[in-house]
Amino acid sequence: MTSKMTSEEIREAFLSYFESQGHLRMASGSLIPVGDPTLLLTNAGMVPFKAFFSGESEPPRKRLVSSQKSFRTPDIDEVGDTTHLTLFEMMGNFSFGDYFKEDAIKFALEFLDTRLGLPKEMFNIAVHDSDNEAVELWLQAGIPKEKIFRFGDEHNWWGPAGDEGPCGPNTELFYDFGDDRGCGKSDCGPNCEYEMNAQGEVCDRFVELWNLVFMQFYHNLDGTRTPLPAPGVDTGLGLERAVVILQGVSTIYETDLFQPMINKAQELTGKKWGSDRDTSYAIATIAEHGRSSTFLIADGVIPGNEGRGYVLRRVIRRAIRHGRKLGLDEPFLGELVKVTIDKMGGIFPELRNNQEFILNVIKLEEERFQQAFENGYSLLTDALVDTKTLSGEVMFRLWDTYGFPVEMTQEIAEEQGVAVDMDGFAKEMAAQRERGRASSLTGGDRAKIRVYEGLGVEATRFQGYEQVTGSSPVIGLITSDEAVDKVTEGQDIEIVLLDTPFYAEGGGQVGDAGEVSAPNGELTINDTADRMMCAMAHAIGNVT
Ligand code: ALA
Repeated sequence: MTSKMTSEEIREAFLSYFESQGHLRMASGSLIPVGDPTLLLTNAGMVPFKAFFSGESEPPRKRLVSSQKSFRTPDIDEVGDTTHLTLFEMMGNFSFGDYFKEDAIKFALEFLDTRLGLPKEMFNIAVHDSDNEAVELWLQAGIPKEKIFRFGDEHNWWGPAGDEGPCGPNTELFYDFGDDRGCGKSDCGPNCEYEMNAQGEVCDRFVELWNLVFMQFYHNLDGTRTPLPAPGVDTGLGLERAVVILQGVSTIYETDLFQPMINKAQELTGKKWGSDRDTSYAIATIAEHGRSSTFLIADGVIPGNEGRGYVLRRVIRRAIRHGRKLGLDEPFLGELVKVTIDKMGGIFPELRNNQEFILNVIKLEEERFQQAFENGYSLLTDALVDTKTLSGEVMFRLWDTYGFPVEMTQEIAEEQGVAVDMDGFAKEMAAQRERGRASSLTGGDRAKIRVYEGLGVEATRFQGYEQVTGSSPVIGLITSDEAVDKVTEGQDIEIVLLDTPFYAEGGGQVGDAGEVSAPNGELTINDTADRMMCAMAHAIGNVT
């Protein structure tokens, strides 16, 4: 049974087992956390349920189960190796003031054994060093004491997700891949840190499969903790890890979850994953980032220079760079979007429902970066010759003029054994902000801002991800820093629209050019600007 289960069957086995134990099945929440300003992206199964733990709102039932799409940003630059992912699914069962430690442990062992064919003998356990009760429960459940390990907060305290929220001690089930994998040391166990090679890769004989959190406290913004009104359980079982184990493969990229994306990346590049380290890395990056950007865009994230938009931009641009390494210099990520939707659109209908939108966003972002990449890359390659440290000035130029995420510049430099001057980069960024502040105080800009404010709209709505043409009411016409009612042929003017397909961009990209036609005249648009200070995009052009 075990080796043949598909990822769909494993997910379904989890959801239906917990339904049979009285849990209500919930659809995955969005990757954009709802009502949670302290968290950039949903990074765990409990995120949509934070308010149920804190007692702020009532859950639809005291027992819930879900498979939650989750995104973790700290590892973006590691993706491409065999273990790190940005997007993953966290399967979880939840109790809000209902069952606690004893049943959480019982359910976990029973599910693994009866539904996945993974008996308790295959696991070692980690517990928080203060949690004698959990140790006792594991012993009663038949785990021998030499397979139970105690750790401090660093490993066995979970939460909060974001700057505040529920948290508590946790206990983890580590799958044991057996003696012939790992360091072979007599004290090898969960969280073994023995370095296996010069690259610092550590022993991976024991892999954490399932984390059971006993939610007991609310971590407040000021750092204090208050007991939760009703302690509960939050668990997280990584779907991808379960699939690796049950399909008997060594890496996520060999599972059925990733095969369609890997095959597509191989077909596009004509190269094989597994042939050599660099090729495998690039193919895996294209596959993983193609998949995760599809999910981000489906939930409404669009590329930008801040926050989640910047995460998406980094991921897309990193995929483009790895594509280039394998000879892809035309937009290609749309092909990865399509296979991701084919593979996962049945489980996550938002992917199918937004297919056109996702393809448009990806295509626009790829087109924007292709040319800049070429130029930026040659500047960077030149700068890397005969140097030990890349200057902050070059990194800033790459960011500002060519749209290179600084993490990407760093990754390229480090690949070539060159360090980066992050402090220097930070100084350049600060200087730019200072220049921005200073120039925003000039009389001309003040006048302009007053004009925008006088026009009375908050922000132009960008339609360009769905369409490249559009119609809109005209909010204002501006010449020489004055709002005017009328313009005539030959004048240089600015036009402010309510809706626009024209993309306004800083960060090294030029704004869109194009045409506007109205019943009584035409405009040639030379540039599109985004005036952050008054949150308005406007087009600059001449009347013809
Ligand atoms: N919230 C817990 C985790 O993310 C289950 O590991």
